[in-house]
Amino acid sequence: MERLPEPELMNDPAQAKAYAHADFEDAHSAIVAHFCRIFGKHEKPHAVLDLGCGPADISIRFARLYPDCRIDAVDGAHFMLEQARTRIEHAGLQHQISLHLQCLPDCELPQKNYQAIVSNSLLHHLHDPQSLWTTIRRYAVPGTAIFICDLYRPQTLGQAEDLVSRYAAGEPEILRRDFHNSLLAAFTPDEVQDQLDTAGLQGLKLEPISDRHLLVSGRLQGT
Ligand SMILES: C[S@@+](CC[C@H](N)C(=O)[O-])C[C@H]1O[C@@H](n2cnc3c(N)ncnc32)[C@H](O)[C@@H]1O
Repeated sequence: MERLPEPELMNDPAQAKAYAHADFEDAHSAIVAHFCRIFGKHEKPHAVLDLGCGPADISIRFARLYPDCRIDAVDGAHFMLEQARTRIEHAGLQHQISLHLQCLPDCELPQKNYQAIVSNSLLHHLHDPQSLWTTIRRYAVPGTAIFICDLYRPQTLGQAEDLVSRYAAGEPEILRRDFHNSLLAAFTPDEVQDQLDTAGLQGLKLEPISDRHLLVSGRLQGT
């Protein structure tokens, strides 16, 4: 099935609100568990970058996992960051998480580099996927833990519809539509491997971690 890109930014207020109130507990707790599996429980990054942070659920989970770390969370959608601000305040984590209204690949961040760079469900939004990989190259140094999760594109429209029925059955229509569009906009594992090769990031490991998610992880190698 051909890729069908969707708009990059999620800057519609209703869409941002619905996404921020969706239940991602299973998927997002699994993401944190994968990070610990790969980088070990002794990993203690003091500066983390969350790219395409949306309502900051992933940033909040990392802030709780590493209470001494500072997190720069980046998103280009104003309404999504409003949701993020409310959630961070509610969690009392303003001292750990800073929000940045900026778009990849041209973002200017406070740190020159980070010990960990994480991103969930951003890649499939990007019209040019190299926006993500060049940003990572810019803000990583040898040893940086890189951890990128996303959907991968099913082979057929029927498979995409099955996934929406299986995982979003009880969700509001706006979320079901977003999930469907995201599956069609996602890259295949082979396409992501080509992106990594082009970016000189072939040292990272690409693995499927569910029937719809892939993970790219590893440490930036010295060059
Ligand atoms: C599906 S959401 C994922 C949010 C969050 N990472 C999570 O896992 O819940 C993707 C986010 O990426 C943002 N985004 C898309 N393209 C972007 C770009 N070029 N620069 C910055 N943010 C972008 C969107 O606005 C949206 O908030």
